[in-house]
Amino acid sequence: MAFYHPILFRLDAERAHSLTIAALAAWGKAGMPLAPNVPRLATRVAGIEFSNPIGLAAGVDKDGRAIAGFFGLGFGSVEIGTLTPLAQPGNPKPRIFRLPADRAVINRLGFNNGGLDAALSRACSTANKGSGGKGVLGINVGANKDATDRTADYVHGVTRAAPHADYITINISSPNTPGLRDLQHGAALRDLLAACTAMKSDTPIFLKVAPDLEPADIDDIARAALDNRIDALIVNNTTISRPGLRSAQAKETGGLSGAPLAPLARQRLADFRKATGAAIPLISVGGMDSGTEAYARLRAGASLVQLYTALVYEGPGLPARILRELDALLTRDGFASVADAVGVDAR
Ligand code: FNR
Repeated sequence: MAFYHPILFRLDAERAHSLTIAALAAWGKAGMPLAPNVPRLATRVAGIEFSNPIGLAAGVDKDGRAIAGFFGLGFGSVEIGTLTPLAQPGNPKPRIFRLPADRAVINRLGFNNGGLDAALSRACSTANKGSGGKGVLGINVGANKDATDRTADYVHGVTRAAPHADYITINISSPNTPGLRDLQHGAALRDLLAACTAMKSDTPIFLKVAPDLEPADIDDIARAALDNRIDALIVNNTTISRPGLRSAQAKETGGLSGAPLAPLARQRLADFRKATGAAIPLISVGGMDSGTEAYARLRAGASLVQLYTALVYEGPGLPARILRELDALLTRDGFASVADAVGVDAR
């Protein structure tokens, strides 16, 4: 991820991403927030107080290097990861592709990360749980590619991260670790969720799902999440589909994100709202790029939203802009709070 800039966009996408994270890490230490604090946008979801409903999606700051910088841009929550128990290099480069004509990205990173413990040592002081209290910190956990027992990797991740996170995300929806999405089905899903929720911790557990699901899968996931008292569903990760892309890079293997994912993400939000009967909070992700879109997702039943790819094309001012637009839209329509607007179009 790199913010749109003529020079950064001339660099390889991954090199530009590293430079952006380094710059934000340095800027975060200086502690000069860019975004307005709008008390009316505060909202409580899964027992957690969010200063606003706009979150940074997983994958941007995988290793938790620039958490304070992202809070400074205005995000109410920052989800680091995906982190695996052991550090791993991910897939061979190149593995991130910009598709500017489609305002999209394709990635096949494959959970490259420096390992859970290294990230935890950076993250501890930033969450509401820690002394910093700057915002809500989510820690997204996954399984190592070579793990012989993937469920054990998730249980390890949840157990290690719980004392340090405001919430944990179980990510079983990356298309870039072979076989990972199989955990979204039947007994494999039930066993995984039962194992991860067995340890009694106060830290809420969220589950992140793929958009590439059949109707029966959606019902199955909703039931398994309800049965295991999952605290929220993050809907959704990148797609392996290629809906009407213009860019030559469209043929690259990997997960697609950004504007072309928005229609599918809206559909899955509606599907999960119906399948869960509004009994679990939903977090909508995929092609989120404006206050208007955030407002529409809330009205369609999302309690929170997250974004990644729009930041690449719109730049670091995007979260602050979304907050201002969202505040104006709530005022226009007479909503006293974010929570009042959630699901009004879904009833
Ligand atoms: C991602 N995403 C992602 N999700 C996740 O749970 N763990 C991860 O490690 C990553 N890594 C990652 C890398 C890159 C380069 C991209 C573009 C995306 C998925 C991300 O969190 C989000 O679900 C999708 O990108 C859809 O949102 P946007 O990008 O359309 O706003």
